[in-house]
Amino acid sequence: MPIGVFDSGVGGLTVMREIMRQLPEENILYLGDTARVPYGTRSPETVVKYSVENTEFLMSRGIKLLVVACNTSSSVSLDILKDKFPVPVIGVVEPGARAAVANTRLKKVAVIGTETTIKSGSYEKAIKALDGSIKVSGVACPLFVPLIEEGWLEGEVVTLTAEKYLEPLKHNGADTLVLGCTHYPMIKGVIERVAKIPLIDSAIETAKEVRRALGAADMLRQDSTDGVKEFFVTDATEKFVRTGERFFGHRIINISKISLP
Ligand code: DGL
Repeated sequence: MPIGVFDSGVGGLTVMREIMRQLPEENILYLGDTARVPYGTRSPETVVKYSVENTEFLMSRGIKLLVVACNTSSSVSLDILKDKFPVPVIGVVEPGARAAVANTRLKKVAVIGTETTIKSGSYEKAIKALDGSIKVSGVACPLFVPLIEEGWLEGEVVTLTAEKYLEPLKHNGADTLVLGCTHYPMIKGVIERVAKIPLIDSAIETAKEVRRALGAADMLRQDSTDGVKEFFVTDATEKFVRTGERFFGHRIINISKISLP
């Protein structure tokens, strides 16, 4: 059975790319809820509703494990999805928090993400559960997602935007900066240059967690051929393919448009 992965749109492809790098033989179904992106500006109730519908769709296709490849959804709906569905569910917040805890020497971590992620305090909770002495500060960067969706990954506009958002981090002494949004790895270079703080990209950590969970449950695919990848979106496929291939670093074929209730 395949691994199911969902995001509000293309951002989760940075997580899928990493899962494919670490586990190339796994079959993967990816759902991008492009008709309802962005999630990061919506209320937790709405994000939970969308996340449950996305998971119901992937479950109806038969999956062995679910990856919530969206920080906003992981922040507000993970426990509900874990309760409601009979497969292992992995989000992106806990793996990122674990990596941040391992990385910080000064015990000061900064997190950037969408408004809903930062408001939820999910990273702070996850980091403090591992080490209560770590100070966590969060900054919402709502303009990053539309800029990235537009393909403005370098240049003046994205650099000025980053300077504005990241200014407070320059003075708060954090030695670790978590990219708490699956879009942000696309502008890693800009963020790194402006913030001058080592970054944590939760995609890599999440893929490690997927490998560990599948291994522990004896569910790794026992075949050395490359797994089949299939994509579903809730809006037009063309834009997803165009933007998505930049996130993904591979061709996106085998894609269909679906309707969710
Ligand atoms: N994928 C979302 C996240 O990681 C960002 C895009 C959105 O707001 O839907 O939070």
